[in-house]
Amino acid sequence: MDWQRAVVFSTLLAVSWCAEDLTFPPGFKFGAATAAFQVEGAWNVSDKGESKWDRFCHEFPHKIQDRSNGDVACDSYHQWKRDIEMAEELGLHFYRFSVSWTRLLPSGFANHISEDGTRYYNNLIDGLLEKGIEPFVTLYHWDLPQSLQDLGGWTNPLVADWFADYARVVFTLFGDRVKWWITINEPIVICDVVYNSGIMAPPIISPETGAYLCNKNVMMAHARAYRIYDEEFRPKYQGKVSVANHHIWFDPLTPADAELAELARQNAVGRYAHPIYSKTGGWPASIEKALEEVSLKRGYSKSSLPAFTQEEIEFVRGTYDFYAMNHYTSRLIRKAREGETFNFWPFADCIDLGAKVQKQEDWDVTSTFWFFIHPEGIRRQLAWLKQQYGDIEFIITENGFPTVEGIHDPIRIKYYKAYLKQVLLAIKEDGVYLTGYTAWSLMDNFEWSDGYATKFGLYQVDYNDPHRKRTPRDSARFYKNLIKTYTLDDGATQDEL
Ligand SMILES: *[C@@H]1O[C@H](CO)[C@@H](O)[C@H](O)[C@H]1NC(C)=O
Repeated sequence: MDWQRAVVFSTLLAVSWCAEDLTFPPGFKFGAATAAFQVEGAWNVSDKGESKWDRFCHEFPHKIQDRSNGDVACDSYHQWKRDIEMAEELGLHFYRFSVSWTRLLPSGFANHISEDGTRYYNNLIDGLLEKGIEPFVTLYHWDLPQSLQDLGGWTNPLVADWFADYARVVFTLFGDRVKWWITINEPIVICDVVYNSGIMAPPIISPETGAYLCNKNVMMAHARAYRIYDEEFRPKYQGKVSVANHHIWFDPLTPADAELAELARQNAVGRYAHPIYSKTGGWPASIEKALEEVSLKRGYSKSSLPAFTQEEIEFVRGTYDFYAMNHYTSRLIRKAREGETFNFWPFADCIDLGAKVQKQEDWDVTSTFWFFIHPEGIRRQLAWLKQQYGDIEFIITENGFPTVEGIHDPIRIKYYKAYLKQVLLAIKEDGVYLTGYTAWSLMDNFEWSDGYATKFGLYQVDYNDPHRKRTPRDSARFYKNLIKTYTLDDGATQDEL
């Protein structure tokens, strides 16, 4: 072959490779997500009980950027038909939402099931199914009943019993129609972020103890719910259950920091995933050792990370039907210098490992302080998870981008494209068995300590409108088109919405 023909040939190859590379595999599923506290509002209607987030916003308004709360939010409690309509407009295969524990069980316990709460979720589930959209349901997305918080919340080992009872009620009521379940959303936020930062509910600072008690209790609660589904509901309903972890990808600042970066991954991901997904179960060995050392050095009689019994290790191990990954951002990690102070939030500096994080110079920042753009991170995270836990089914259960205002959001489209390209590389080049992707979020909503200032929505929500009018952004058109064409190819036409 002469050089000219070789060039033409390789160009053709490159073009066909690119075209192929930008296409999602047949059967791949696209969805979008919300969470109860962030969208429902109606915090005190009917017999609904108070959640720890209701209490937190009312009692500590200064801890929310715009001093707002979830009292009305997107009013999805009343606007659920519009929510289904938006899911239908986008052509979503599934809609991921969460059940509000206190809407269903006002006291927090399973002694009384709210008829009003049951009706609300039945309407939402049935409405989605009528449109051919699968409900993908999270049992717990941070809104613990205040009654249970008053008893110690996630630091009390009994929380596993309370969660198990709640899970059984939800599976009993909705399991005939819901086939995709997440037990708990982002345990690292419930435990590490909460007890290290004070910026989330409850505002209790207990990094050396609370975070680790919570860590073990969340693992036990998840496993209880999984086992209940497995034994009592799977034979009838054949659904799938997992836990959705939050993943920040860590790269070493210099080659000398490689070992520390791996320890940080085991700390931030392994501490919540290894007990469930690894072959051996229990805590990652490197973390167990590091935390015991630091606890003894601090004068404790034993590790702050509570041990699992052998029976508990077996009980938690293997309690998954797929791997649910939430991912947004990355960090570079290095060893802390002498005298340096630590900033746990945005959850990444780790005083217990002597690790400091930073942004790589060329990573763009976003409108929210914890979020730097690093598309390659999502691919590396997936590859790492596959290498750690094996060739299991992965679903991205959250990924998205924040802006502050506007219907025209080219930067959000750019983010989705860049991240989704990396997702395709994970599937095609790294052989990750990834079957679904979930955009966060279907609509703007109450973004925790950012209040309503940070907007993740494919749809804009007008908070001055009593009906909380929802309007599609440009990114909604992009996503609709992607779902229709299965390709990120720019040439594909964009539909009206
Ligand atoms: C519900 O809460 C709102 C504040 O968000 C308050 O104005 C209203 O009176 C409360 N309703 C009931 C029935 O307590």
